[in-house]
Amino acid sequence: MNYFVTGITGNVVPVIIEELMAKEPDPRFYFAIRPGSKGEDIQSRFDRLVRRMDMDRASREKLAERSRLVEIDVNKYRLGIDPDMYQELIENTEKILHGAADVRFDQPYEKIRIPNVVFTEKIYALFDAIKQHRRTAGLTDPTLYYISTGYAYGIYKKPIPEEFPEFNPAKPDNTYAQTKAEAKQFILDKIKELNDRIVIFEPTIIGGSAKTGRTRSYTLHYLVIMLGYLGKLPFLTTPKNTLDIVPVDWVAAVISDIMAKDEFHQGALRLASGEDAVTIRYLHDKAYDYYTQNDPVPGHVIPKIHFVPRWAFLSLVLLQKSAYRSLHFVTRKERFRKLVKGISLLEGYFPYITGHKKFKNAKGLELIEKYTDCSKAPAIQDILDENGNIVKKGYYEKVMADTLETGWGGLVDFERLERKTAAYKSPQAAYSASRK
Ligand SMILES: NC(=O)c1ccc[n+]([C@@H]2O[C@H](COP(=O)([O-])OP(=O)(O)OC[C@H]3O[C@@H](n4cnc5c(N)ncnc54)[C@H](OP(=O)(O)O)[C@@H]3O)[C@@H](O)[C@H]2O)c1
Repeated sequence: MNYFVTGITGNVVPVIIEELMAKEPDPRFYFAIRPGSKGEDIQSRFDRLVRRMDMDRASREKLAERSRLVEIDVNKYRLGIDPDMYQELIENTEKILHGAADVRFDQPYEKIRIPNVVFTEKIYALFDAIKQHRRTAGLTDPTLYYISTGYAYGIYKKPIPEEFPEFNPAKPDNTYAQTKAEAKQFILDKIKELNDRIVIFEPTIIGGSAKTGRTRSYTLHYLVIMLGYLGKLPFLTTPKNTLDIVPVDWVAAVISDIMAKDEFHQGALRLASGEDAVTIRYLHDKAYDYYTQNDPVPGHVIPKIHFVPRWAFLSLVLLQKSAYRSLHFVTRKERFRKLVKGISLLEGYFPYITGHKKFKNAKGLELIEKYTDCSKAPAIQDILDENGNIVKKGYYEKVMADTLETGWGGLVDFERLERKTAAYKSPQAAYSASRK
């Protein structure tokens, strides 16, 4: 099977490819990649990511042998793909996986519309050309697998429905959700007008692997947990709201099964925890217990987070931001500018945390059980304790263990924190040590 794939340098798509390599008897890939932001060429980017993939050496070599890299520039005509290569893609591709998107929450609409909407339109144009070619040649229609998000539905007071082919999104939470909703609507219109073979996946929040706890991306709940660990989040709100987190390996297992089994060709598939989603209070308590018991920094005290009403939380954040902004204005210190930026980034996450989000997932589960070898997301793996009681344990401990092993992917320097903690505990000792 010949695939054209976008998003291979991201968090989710490499895990899907790892799975496809194991499930497909004869997979071949065209990977659409842009050069790195610091000028790294596409081959070096690809080689680096293959080295990091969770596969044995033989599978890595097999993947490298079976991969062709296609340099793209979404701003250009036909994604800037060389005309001969574009023709080759039309003639050879059987399936497209479009997993690339700009997932930042703080981007201006006009800017983020390009990677999220225009990119999808251009991918569809390629898909359409492949379809015409294959029909003329008497071959089966190609399939387009598009990764959307459950959050494309925006601010929903009620549980977020599983509609298909209808789509009734509410006001978006941010420009990411807005542009993902636009792209989904574009894809749905094509299905309705042309009866195309298109499958839309709608994951919620993708967290670390359920098998290993590992992730490639420490954003959203990871950052909130990190701030809590560092004592930089004295307040939080809405403890009863739920965070619908699904493990990346489960998402990848479902998507790769759908692709490899080749039986489900049209529809939308919600990938959510639904009723099993954990509350913010649950996550807070788990994290507090885990980090206080396993803190690698001697003497570091993790302060308890106080839950306050939503209005109070939002006012406190605003107050803090204004204070840092004024301090930056007066002192011109870079530290205060960075703090303002950090708070703005965090504000982008608030809708996911302080907003009420419940996801329906019954139809998705039905499709998963019918068309894949997976069942519901193992968000919480129940185990039995020595007395035979069910203990909800497993997934989140693994995720938290990974954050301590990697320092949140390099965001936290434990040695530096240890030095700061020592200086705080014993300023005189730290001072004399630094004078030596
Ligand atoms: N992560 C989640 O929690 C989550 C939840 C629901 C749905 N999703 C969806 O799942 C998909 C994958 O998400 P992810 O978490 O893997 O995202 P990610 O780690 O940020 O990766 C995004 C990928 O898209 C590529 N990309 C972005 N803009 C591009 C552009 N202008 N031209 C070429 N490539 C571009 C990136 O390439 P570069 O390396 O060159 O930047 C990267 O390969 C996305 O469609 C996202 O909307 C994610």
